[in-house]
Amino acid sequence: MYVCAVANQKGGVGKTTTAHNLGMVLGRKKKVLLIDLDAQSNLTDACGFVQSDLHGSAYEVLGGSKGLEDAVLSLERGIDLLPASRDLAVAELAFASKLGRENLLKKALKDAAYDFAIIDCPPSLGLLTVNALTAADGVLIPVQAEYYALAGLDLIRETMQGVIENLNPRLHTLGILLTFFDGRKSLNRDVAAGLQDRWGNLVFKTAIRDNVALAEAPSNGQNIFDYRRQSYGAQDYAALAREFMLRVRKQ
Ligand SMILES: Nc1ncnc2c1ncn2[C@@H]1O[C@H](COP(=O)(O)OP(=O)(O)OP(=O)(O)O)[C@@H](O)[C@H]1O
Ligand SMILES: [Mg+2]
Repeated sequence: MYVCAVANQKGGVGKTTTAHNLGMVLGRKKKVLLIDLDAQSNLTDACGFVQSDLHGSAYEVLGGSKGLEDAVLSLERGIDLLPASRDLAVAELAFASKLGRENLLKKALKDAAYDFAIIDCPPSLGLLTVNALTAADGVLIPVQAEYYALAGLDLIRETMQGVIENLNPRLHTLGILLTFFDGRKSLNRDVAAGLQDRWGNLVFKTAIRDNVALAEAPSNGQNIFDYRRQSYGAQDYAALAREFMLRVRKQ
């Protein structure tokens, strides 16, 4: 199983949208587990579930009171979701004094029988994101095409370095993904060039364009392929999935 954390401490950069739609493409050919590790439960909502559908959640699975199999919900053939419930908001506190608190997710995934697990992280570098980085093989970092994106990257890379040194030596950056890209805006082109200069091949060739269909799909509880198959958003996430697979094979 290849575990990919979709992480960036900055809010609203497209983490959930990326985890969801990338997971849906990978799930056409592979067994995929989507993991909602954010108390906002955006991924769970986007997958069309409401809190009363849940019979277990990431909080319980991390805490050890429920097994992974008992908590997952089936989306489509081959794709499962470990949903988030609101109580994940207190996880950082509740697990703070637990022994091995950084390893809770890794332990929970030990016997999981999937080809890929894609983790949607919260917009922080707290204990939940550290759990994701400890369980992960690779990190996909979505960055919005704006000025502060570059500085934000140093912060998450520092946290990753701490995890590599102390918890998970095999962790690597799978790629940096430019999101909300609008090639007509010179700032967007400048940020893309700045990313390329600084991070070179780590930047995915695919950028996700700014596309209103991507913003509309979750309010229907749909992924972009069911909502607007022809949209730029669908095209870009399909292209990302191809690049993702090539990179994973090289690891
Ligand atoms: N490429 C895009 N074009 C237009 N809208 C987008 C795009 N990607 C995401 N969105 C929309 O922008 C908002 C933020 O995206 P998303 O929820 O994926 O970000 P996030 O990083 O997960 O946010 P948070 O940090 O709060 O978890 C959402 O309403 C989403 O539907
Ligand atoms: Mg999110």
